[in-house]
Amino acid sequence: MDDRRIGIFDSGIGGTSIWGEIQELLPFEQCIYLADSKNAPYGDKPPEQILDLSIKNTEYLLARNCKLIVVACNTATTNAIEYLRANYEVPFIGIEPAIKPAAINTKSKIIGVLATKGTLSSSLFHSTSKNHTEGITVLEQRGTGLVEMIENGNLESKDLYRLLESYIKPMLEKGMDYLVLGCTHYPYLIPMLKKMLPENVTIIDSGQAVARQTKSVLTHNGLLTGSKLLGRHQFFTNGDEHVLASILSTSKVEYSVFFKDF
Ligand code: DGL
Repeated sequence: MDDRRIGIFDSGIGGTSIWGEIQELLPFEQCIYLADSKNAPYGDKPPEQILDLSIKNTEYLLARNCKLIVVACNTATTNAIEYLRANYEVPFIGIEPAIKPAAINTKSKIIGVLATKGTLSSSLFHSTSKNHTEGITVLEQRGTGLVEMIENGNLESKDLYRLLESYIKPMLEKGMDYLVLGCTHYPYLIPMLKKMLPENVTIIDSGQAVARQTKSVLTHNGLLTGSKLLGRHQFFTNGDEHVLASILSTSKVEYSVFFKDF
């Protein structure tokens, strides 16, 4: 039993989609969430800078005594998780585009992956993709500009719709029947995506798989909390706390949002 908190970080508010899955599956755990919005987007930065930012976030969470760290960002996972695992003692859970289930289930043999430049150009993404997609066409689409718009907090704007559509349409025209969301900000686009995707196209994101993996690693390492009280969560942002608070506002659990210039 271990009552310390789970640490979670992302380049901004996107990883709250992962936090939501974790707190649903593990309601008695408590989390500290870091939204490094000041440095978003990570996806356009060089790999060395993504690594430095991931180290900074990790050390912030470890200084707050976290027992496990969830890298709730595909870009940080694909560019930094090997280093983090090799250099820190706590377990790390990462997130990568869920290509495997899409490749197994596609009928058209054409799948789309919408992700950041940083994720799509990483070697970890390429080796995972290669391992699971024999005989499958993988349409890799960079979501340039989407993270910035989501970070602004207006998830219903026409500009956002138009930009998203400009990425989705060409993949539809090529026959994609699975769309893999390879960025933790993108689940917030699902209501918009549902308006532009025909019914035969399935959207896949990795949030629930990350939550299950978090539970499994906590269990096998004896790190689950002994508490039977619902967890209270802390959110730190170095960006706009109102945007973070608004994205959390539908949540029923107890949480606090703080501005901190980390
Ligand atoms: N949520 C991050 C990811 O999953 C966003 C990347 C970014 O900041 O560009 O990749």
